[in-house]
Amino acid sequence: MQASFTVNGTPRQIDVPEDMPLLWILREELGLTGTKYGCGVAQCGACTVHLNGEAVRSCQVRASDLEGAEVTTIEGIGTPDNPHPVQAAWIETQVAQCGYCQSGQIMQAIALLQEFPVPTDQEINDAMSGNLCRCASYPRIRTAIHLATSRMGGR
Ligand code: FES
Ligand code: FES
Repeated sequence: MQASFTVNGTPRQIDVPEDMPLLWILREELGLTGTKYGCGVAQCGACTVHLNGEAVRSCQVRASDLEGAEVTTIEGIGTPDNPHPVQAAWIETQVAQCGYCQSGQIMQAIALLQEFPVPTDQEINDAMSGNLCRCASYPRIRTAIHLATSRMGGR
């Protein structure tokens, strides 16, 4: 099928099988390897991107779901010279250990802050509970989200 959608603000039209997961499209067809493959079955969150502004597991979104959609990946939210406030808070807090889960964590955190600009620890835990980290960076993730909140105009 021809899939027509937008990735990080750029219109894309690609010929792919209709059941190809968005995660594969991003990594293999478009070379956007910041989004990671962890489990492939919606259990880890490593593949989290935004689809029409919502955090989704890209391993579970098919090409046939993408017509007219707006996809944002970790590559689309900031640059090394101009990081997103959440990315800046992540760097300042030194959240990452191996780093594998972190693009998914950041995309989930940005979606959280769009819904709850000043989240409580409980709201953070609830929103982030589906994003696993084998390096157990959870306390630093919470700290970084609170820091990003203050930088983005929250408390
Ligand atoms: S790879 Fe998609 S949730 Fe694990
Ligand atoms: S930083 Fe290693 S898996 Fe999360």
